[in-house]
Amino acid sequence: MKKIIAAFALMLAGTTAFAEQADYNIIPLPKSVDVDASQTMTLRTGMGIAYDAGNPEASRNAQFLRAWIEEATGLRLELTPADKKAAVRMLVAPQKKLKKGETLTAQEAEAYTIVVDKKGISISAASQTGLFRAAQTLRKAMPVAKDLTAVELPFAKITDQPRFEYRGVMLDCARHYFPLETLKKFVDVAALHGCNQMHWHLTEDQGWRFEVKALPDLAKKGSVREQTVIGHNTEIYDGQRYGGYYTQAECRELVNYAAERYINIIPEIDLPGHMMGALNVFPNLGCTGGPYPVWTMWGVSREVLCAGNPETLTFLKTVLGELCDVFPSKYIHIGGDECPKDRWKECPKCQAKAKELGLKDDGKHSIENQLQTYINHEVEKFLGQRGRDMIGWDEVLEGGLTDNGIVMSWRGIDGGIEAAKQHHRVIMAPTSHCYIDYYQLKDPSKQPLGIGGYLPASKVYSFEPLVPETLSEEEQKYILGPQVNLWTEYVLYPQHLFYMLLPRLDAISEVQWCRSDQKDFENFKSRLPRMKQLYDRLGVSYCHKTE
Ligand code: ACM
Ligand code: ZN
Repeated sequence: MKKIIAAFALMLAGTTAFAEQADYNIIPLPKSVDVDASQTMTLRTGMGIAYDAGNPEASRNAQFLRAWIEEATGLRLELTPADKKAAVRMLVAPQKKLKKGETLTAQEAEAYTIVVDKKGISISAASQTGLFRAAQTLRKAMPVAKDLTAVELPFAKITDQPRFEYRGVMLDCARHYFPLETLKKFVDVAALHGCNQMHWHLTEDQGWRFEVKALPDLAKKGSVREQTVIGHNTEIYDGQRYGGYYTQAECRELVNYAAERYINIIPEIDLPGHMMGALNVFPNLGCTGGPYPVWTMWGVSREVLCAGNPETLTFLKTVLGELCDVFPSKYIHIGGDECPKDRWKECPKCQAKAKELGLKDDGKHSIENQLQTYINHEVEKFLGQRGRDMIGWDEVLEGGLTDNGIVMSWRGIDGGIEAAKQHHRVIMAPTSHCYIDYYQLKDPSKQPLGIGGYLPASKVYSFEPLVPETLSEEEQKYILGPQVNLWTEYVLYPQHLFYMLLPRLDAISEVQWCRSDQKDFENFKSRLPRMKQLYDRLGVSYCHKTE
């Protein structure tokens, strides 16, 4: 009898009754996928994943892969580092023959190959980062099902590397505060899409959210607004105090969490405008002396840091010094957008500073815009001493760019084009294609209240960041990559956040990863249902309709 049961069990295990097929039509689509659908290898519970046992990073990536396969399918693989014959083998190996003196580009350093054949699944990559990207690809190829004991994988060879070295997504946590748990999920979703930069907008008129230990009141008081306007500046207020900030320990926790997922966190302190959170606590830093509320409405405030008060730079250096201590990012974002100059024009301190600096309107750059460039210069020098590069919104062009500034082009692509022509690095995030706070469906009544606009996934998808019709090949080299921005004036809850993000992050991920001749929106749409199954499994919301 025992023998019969054992034979029956063996039969069951040997059948594919609980097997489903893997599908390599994922998002973002790898650079090349050659499939031989006539043959499959069967991945079963109990099979092993081999990796470089001596390397904790390799071990972590193997654990990720194991957990993701189980999460999607129920299949439980074993970690068997030393088993050269394991069904899944992850190893770092050159993906390209280098000529003498040649080094890998950032994109090549993330390259990987997955081969599925009768020996199993062999994953090789130029680096651990590449192995992580490959593991994400394999994860997304898995069927999303429950309690599978086997998955059939068609024989295949997949090779991939990202098109752009910079693949960003921005989240505004200043208009609304999101807890660390949500931010970790945000990082998970960004990593699922192969992003490598999370731009974290931390300070605003409506709240200062970064703890500065030398200035304890800054976050404690500057993060709290007395109430919030309802809707689009209706003049009706909700009467609810609103606040929240991130301690440095929390920031470090997020930095480490993201780093394990090969995402760098770029913090932004928006200066010298968008500063009412700080001005509330330090009214002496404003041209009029205040008092200033932490702003309770939306829009662009006239109240900005005084450019002529030496204490302004002392304040900024204190803040940015601690920021650099907490965030190891090579890039530090200093904002620079939407800084009205009304106050500076009338402020004796600002005007005296302009005179001292000998600033003259040259017909291209106004005195006040040059005054902003003066601040940017000081900040850039300070960050440079700490080995950091400064990013600013495209307004930083208006008073003349600083020596090494990176331009984030948001008011269209013209700022990016101008900066690239001046041989400055550029991140492309224009409102026309990258502002995912805009509505994504034509009919606003079918969506939660938003800021306005209309940016469907198809428009995001159509973005071409290199502007080849305008920029020469040499100039295109200055475009680091594209980024989508999620501002949160109207986004209060995680469900809404992920609804705004997905599937537009899917769309930008193909802009970030795929060659332009690979892109096809209808084909992209056909690959979305599988991703949505995974989102359901991960418990993140998304927009069901895709326009
Ligand atoms: C911006 O959207 N104000 C950069
Ligand atoms: Zn002033």
